Amino acid sequence: MDLYETIKTRRSIRAYKKDPVEDDKLDRIIDAARLAPTAANKQPFSLIVIKNEQVKHKLKDAYSQEWFYTAPVIICACALPDTAWKRNDGRRYVDVDVAIAMDHLILAASAEGLGTCWIAAFKPEVVKDVLNIPDNLEPLILTPLGYPEIIPEPTFRKSLGEMVREIK
Ligand SMILES: Cc1cc2nc3c(=O)[nH]c(=O)nc-3n(C[C@H](O)[C@H](O)[C@H](O)COP(=O)(O)O)c2cc1C
Repeated sequence: MDLYETIKTRRSIRAYKKDPVEDDKLDRIIDAARLAPTAANKQPFSLIVIKNEQVKHKLKDAYSQEWFYTAPVIICACALPDTAWKRNDGRRYVDVDVAIAMDHLILAASAEGLGTCWIAAFKPEVVKDVLNIPDNLEPLILTPLGYPEIIPEPTFRKSLGEMVREIK
């Protein structure tokens, strides 16, 4: 799919079919995240791919929305804050790096006909425990991954005029 078409048609999907995600598609989607640019090329993130039903069940203590577990795959993007680039004033860019990688992943999924939904409103300490994540990694974003059961209408966006200030 053309990139602009993918950007326009992507939605946050909150209902999934049971159909499994093909391995070759999953590989391409994950690789799209790997290829993302990062500040000073530090690549301060890692991804956990969860297909195991028992592990998914345990994650309900971290994020309880039933629709989330209709997806056959869950991906957890973790930040590696200690290895990330910092600006001279100390500002860390690790969240930006993880977000870019996740956006690559999410757009690649959409281009493959698959649905995703960014999830930040989970309990990170429970996710760390269930997924056995070491202390140097911080779970930052979850997404389900699977074929959409329901594709919602586009959500509201501000106009360009509200968002862009041009200096000539
Ligand atoms: C950083 C981030 C965190 C989000 N966290 C959640 C979340 O915890 N739960 C949820 O249902 N949606 C979450 N969303 C999805 C947004 O609600 C959604 O992207 C927004 O409403 C626009 O809808 P659209 O993605 O269909 O265009 C999150 C999105 C982003 C970018």
